Amino acid sequence: MAVDPEIGFTADVIRDPGRFVGRTELLRDCIAALNSATGLISVYGKRGVGKSSLLRQIQQMALGEYTLAKRAGLTSEIPARPRKYLTVYYACDSLIRDGKELISRLVNDQDAEDGLLRLVPNDGKDIVEFTRSKEVSGGADLKVLNWGAKGIESSKYAKTVPGDVVQTFRNFVSAVVDHQVHRRMRRDSLLIILDEFDVIQDKQGLGSLIKSLTTPEVKFAVCGVGGDLADLIADHASVERLIEQGVLAVKPMSLAESEGIIYRATELFRGAVRFAPGIASKIAGMAQGYPYFVQLIGKQCVNEMNARGTDVIDDEIFDAIVQGLKTGKAFPTLETAYQRAIGGSDGRQLLLHLLAEQSSEASFTDEIGRVVLKNSRTVAEELGVQFVDQVMPRLVEAKYGPVLERVEQGVYEFVNPVLRQYIRLRGMN
Ligand SMILES: Nc1ncnc2c1ncn2[C@@H]1O[C@H](COP(=O)(O)OP(=O)(O)O)[C@@H](O)[C@H]1O
Ligand SMILES: [Mg+2]
Repeated sequence: MAVDPEIGFTADVIRDPGRFVGRTELLRDCIAALNSATGLISVYGKRGVGKSSLLRQIQQMALGEYTLAKRAGLTSEIPARPRKYLTVYYACDSLIRDGKELISRLVNDQDAEDGLLRLVPNDGKDIVEFTRSKEVSGGADLKVLNWGAKGIESSKYAKTVPGDVVQTFRNFVSAVVDHQVHRRMRRDSLLIILDEFDVIQDKQGLGSLIKSLTTPEVKFAVCGVGGDLADLIADHASVERLIEQGVLAVKPMSLAESEGIIYRATELFRGAVRFAPGIASKIAGMAQGYPYFVQLIGKQCVNEMNARGTDVIDDEIFDAIVQGLKTGKAFPTLETAYQRAIGGSDGRQLLLHLLAEQSSEASFTDEIGRVVLKNSRTVAEELGVQFVDQVMPRLVEAKYGPVLERVEQGVYEFVNPVLRQYIRLRGMN
């Protein structure tokens, strides 16, 4: 019988604590940050390293669900009476110009499980408790079942102030804190989690806005792509005193953690799938610290296993996946991005591979992922790419990805490190 690969592997953000692997040090920092009365939590790192998944675990712990932390051996870090929250989760997008627009989005967000509006008390709205995890101890949150006959616009307990969205937000939040956080759920505070925070166009003023809205009863967590807090909040100096504990840099996973994803999957499959010795470590090696890749390769292995009618993923199956990867057949989503970037040009394809393969071991942290055009130019020309400067522009053009982002004259960065790793593993044919 075919095994559903999704039982053990997923390409989605990890919400279920039972699927979350590793990150023990980060979880330790999260516990400390959640349990300090004030303070901003900031999470940053490269695309695809696992930021959003960590955020969803922060949300769980905020609700009082600490099973994951306990399993990670962090029981002693959990206070006897942990601070408990109700939570709001919002993913920003690049149409949000500035802090004001962000606030306006928040006060209008109708998501039934994650939105701020769901918590604003009003007549006729049907709000029920629910848990975000399968754990029996799961900390309860609130969701809206029914917005009520009057629809979602009017609310009796919180005043909308025309033309002043920040004041409206304050009113909403204070009604939420009063009625839901304190009275109904007997929690300490409201946690507002903002993912993809880096895409907000004008980052100036976000720091002082967050500072002005942070109280012992309202905490913010912001998350996005970046190398440090300044990539998320331009005026980060204004939140300096809020961030003593909550600065969480998510780095690529260690080999052991990547292997851990395979072992966890094996547990989730409950004996229906086995990996032959050595396979987990080969997959971890290919993934280069990007858990997304481990999940994708794992999934493909299960598909191939099903096709062969066995229950063991051995070298033969693994080699078939590697072969599929080399020929561009294994991962359609990455392949599409790849093809869009090279746009049918052999020269551009060659240049792209040369850039992807540049070693970045010489430099550390910040510099990781950067490539220098001139280091590949000579080789490219020797290999017959005649007009490097003509094939280059498509690689940085937004409508074709972009695959690369210009950092400074002649220096580029792969926008998506997962795609870079894909290019490295893919053959040139
Ligand atoms: N701790 C983890 N354990 C297992 N898989 C993970 C973990 N973190 C991330 N992943 C996998 O990697 C993928 C990318 O993670 P995500 O949280 O979306 O990254 P980011 O927000 O940094 O782009 C997820 O879809 C998930 O499959
Ligand atoms: Mg994310």
